[in-house]
Amino acid sequence: MYSADQTRELEKSSLDMLKKTAAGKAIDLKALRAVLRFHEYRYYIMNDPLIADPEYDQLYKYLESKEAEDPALITRDSPTQRVARGLTKEFFSVQHLVPMLSLENSYNQEDLIDWDRKARELTGLKEVEYCVEPKFDGASISLIYEDDLLVRGATRGTGVEGDEITTNIKQIRSVPLAARFSDYGVQQIEIRGEVLLTKENFKKYNDGLALQNLPPLANPRNAAAGSLRIKDPREVSKRNLEAFLYHVSYFSHPDGKVDKMLLTHSGSLEMLWQLGFRSPIKEKKVLKGIDSVIKYCNEFEEGRDALPYEIDGMVIKVNEILLQDRLGMTSHHPRWAIAYKFKARQGTSKLVDVEFQVGRTGSITPVAKIEPVHIGGVTVSSVSLFNEDVIREKDLMIGDSVLVERAGDVIPYIVKSLADVRNGNEKKIDFPTNCPVCKTKLERPLEEAVWRCNNFNCPAQVVERIIHFTSKDAMDIRGFGEAIIKKFYDLGFLNDIPGIYQLPFERIRGMEGFGEKSIINLQKSIEASQGQPLHRLIFALGIRYVGETTAKTLAHGVSHLSEYRDKTIDEMKGMDDVGVKVAASIYQFFHNDENIAMLEELERLGLKLQNDKKQKLADGALTGKTFLFTGTLPTLKRSDAEGMAEANGAKLLSGVSSKLDYLVVGEDAGSKLEKAKKINSVKIISEEEFLKLLGK
Ligand code: IVH
Repeated sequence: MYSADQTRELEKSSLDMLKKTAAGKAIDLKALRAVLRFHEYRYYIMNDPLIADPEYDQLYKYLESKEAEDPALITRDSPTQRVARGLTKEFFSVQHLVPMLSLENSYNQEDLIDWDRKARELTGLKEVEYCVEPKFDGASISLIYEDDLLVRGATRGTGVEGDEITTNIKQIRSVPLAARFSDYGVQQIEIRGEVLLTKENFKKYNDGLALQNLPPLANPRNAAAGSLRIKDPREVSKRNLEAFLYHVSYFSHPDGKVDKMLLTHSGSLEMLWQLGFRSPIKEKKVLKGIDSVIKYCNEFEEGRDALPYEIDGMVIKVNEILLQDRLGMTSHHPRWAIAYKFKARQGTSKLVDVEFQVGRTGSITPVAKIEPVHIGGVTVSSVSLFNEDVIREKDLMIGDSVLVERAGDVIPYIVKSLADVRNGNEKKIDFPTNCPVCKTKLERPLEEAVWRCNNFNCPAQVVERIIHFTSKDAMDIRGFGEAIIKKFYDLGFLNDIPGIYQLPFERIRGMEGFGEKSIINLQKSIEASQGQPLHRLIFALGIRYVGETTAKTLAHGVSHLSEYRDKTIDEMKGMDDVGVKVAASIYQFFHNDENIAMLEELERLGLKLQNDKKQKLADGALTGKTFLFTGTLPTLKRSDAEGMAEANGAKLLSGVSSKLDYLVVGEDAGSKLEKAKKINSVKIISEEEFLKLLGK
């Protein structure tokens, strides 16, 4: 897409523009848009950004402000035009230029061999050239570009008509708002692709839902499909969707000549890539003969779990468009393409029973016990049903046959019950009215989907809190697993979180299963956990809505955890990631006497409640200034210098950007110095000058 020369040129312009905007000088908006588009491409398509986020923001904000001053300057393909204001009221139906057909499915190599034989018979060729690429497991979309501009995006819908979702499509940063199809003689073009969420983004999204006690989305495919139909485009933007474009379904070329790239399928993928689309250019392979196709499909299936996104098979396409046209289609499918589906990650089983588990916040989770079923190499016998509504929506009954799916790394879930095969002996699932452990009456707040046991001292909750506290992402106490925690609790050795640090080892010693070595190891890992940084402790406390990211923000905001006792909800709301709901929950936690007593006890037992790394910003000579140290300083140790800066009110940054005020350089300073030299506003100083600033 960008040659090495263009890349250098654009990078140079970026640095130039950064300087100019920092110095309050004007820059050309057309060139600026080209620069921003280039950086979006580096970031979203290449995964290899060339400037820091704040620098991109600086340039973007400049463009935004100029366009706001004079809206006549706005162009339709300006990077600012992704941003949508307001909500979508309803989605309108639009007709696809060419109907979106589905593909014929095949499940084994015999099917493929058969299909290839037919293709050879129909074309009279000895060997057909195929293009083989992944079958992306997302939601399909169709885009139309006219005169190089994205004019419409639509869902698949019925295949003939879909929903117009242009605004939402624009939130997908890897979809270019403009692309030079005219370079290929194309005036109007319709392209097809798949919108998806990477496994990582999907997990993040579900983690966020879990924190709010909302049921997770079942799989990335449903998440992608649902995301495209959200009425608030800003919400769509937050999902970090990606789009793979893999098919040109129609194009017009007024001057009659067709660029040769468009004569093959692989060529059109190449063209899309050249124009800045994420087409499966690296994933696809052009192969002759069905044997090598099968081999490639198998290779891909083996590596399936290592991919960052879900695929459910491969698509094999006749590579030459002329041949495709000759093969034509049946009433349902094109004859020139076939899907090869990987082994199913679904299976049927029987719902034997439902258990109700009590979580650490008292939430009651129904868990289906099913007859063990093998799905994609894993035996599944227990499946979360999340909440009462899920049971009702899916119309589940004990004794039902159920369809179970396990997508990649995602936890298994019940797709549906097979109500048609009921025999009348199925039983309704009764949701308990009282806590299955402590018998407290359950409550369900109006705005929530979950029933709760509100007894803070409910044994199940206590045990779950301890389990969470010791878990890997929290205090990471190795060798202190669920089973041991439950056992110690039952034996009365462990009643609460501080109890972890007061275990009666003299009584544990000699118990079955506890040799001297395992006791020493347990003692060691408990001791080691006392040195965990504050953010881990905060996360470990299991405050509602406080996940790992928020825990880091909270740790960052204070020099000692007890400071949260004095913070108002409004003060906390100002922090990154912290909304009203989260702030209220933190406030509640720190205004509960039992929690305060627990924190005091933990501190007495040797846990760190102060924040070593980031002392609260002190007031001093450097207040309000940002610093970064690089290279070997002549007299001070780096960490000491940093400490001195912070003690005098400075904030430390981790990288060079226009937000940096001072870069203190020592010997052998490397890339940070080079980068800082390019940003006018960064002052580059020596240790001596640094000490002078401190008045030393
Ligand atoms: S080609 C006329 N290529 O699978 C052929 N489809 O049942 C157009 N899909 O609706 C489709 N990855 O949503 C094609 N590399 C790929 C694909 C792909 C996923 C989806 C697409 C389509 C369905 C076919």
